Amino acid sequence: MAAPPRLEKITPGNFETAIALKVHPDEDHLVAPVVTSLAEAYVHPDVAWPRLILDGDRIVGFLMAFLGIDFTGDGTGTDTRSGLWRLNIAAGQQGRGYGRFAVRAVAAEIRHRGGTRLTACRHPGEEGPEDLYLGLGFRLTGETSGDQCVGELELTSALTCWTNHMQPGGKRSVRCRCAMPGCVRRPCPRRTRSNC
Ligand SMILES: CC(C)(COP(=O)(O)OP(=O)(O)OC[C@H]1O[C@@H](n2cnc3c(N)ncnc32)[C@H](O)[C@@H]1OP(=O)(O)O)[C@@H](O)C(=O)NCCC(=O)NCCS
Repeated sequence: MAAPPRLEKITPGNFETAIALKVHPDEDHLVAPVVTSLAEAYVHPDVAWPRLILDGDRIVGFLMAFLGIDFTGDGTGTDTRSGLWRLNIAAGQQGRGYGRFAVRAVAAEIRHRGGTRLTACRHPGEEGPEDLYLGLGFRLTGETSGDQCVGELELTSALTCWTNHMQPGGKRSVRCRCAMPGCVRRPCPRRTRSNC
């Protein structure tokens, strides 16, 4: 059985390949280039969580999460959120489940840090990746961030259960550790023991 995709930190060794990663040219307006995200990660090191998505030895995508930001930016610290900041799946690698994996991996990281919801902003309408988020259970909050719509995913669903078995770095646990009824202290019903 093929190993699942995994996340890796950006290093001097993979940096050039990382910034060479490109989405389709007609998607360039939907997401910033990887090099821009890495520059932002450099100036926001406390909240930015950039990772490459690898399948075997192939770099197939890039994600960047934000972890614990003052979302409204009003300085009160009353609305701290974590979520998906950037997601770039390489043009030739789209439609193979890597985007879904990336969202689940960020969900796992947020859960690991004690969070219970994942925030993601996206361009509205058909040109944006609406189906990806809706298919994973996101709901629109009615808020906007710049020209993007804000969506949220409660991390208490079956998605959370699955992500506990697919943690970043390929680390997988045999037993489900989520709070989902029926999953505690026994293998997750959504994955076989061998997969976990
Ligand atoms: C959108 C994107 C991240 C999806 O990644 P992906 O690996 O191709 O997606 P997956 O293969 O995991 O697909 C998961 C689901 O998302 C939906 N989806 C995938 N790409 C989509 C797109 N471009 N538009 C709308 N829905 C899409 C599909 O419904 C799919 O469900 P299905 O398997 O039941 O058909 C990727 O196409 C991409 O990087 N696009 C350009 C940049 C971008 O829009 N980034 C997101 C910024 S918020």
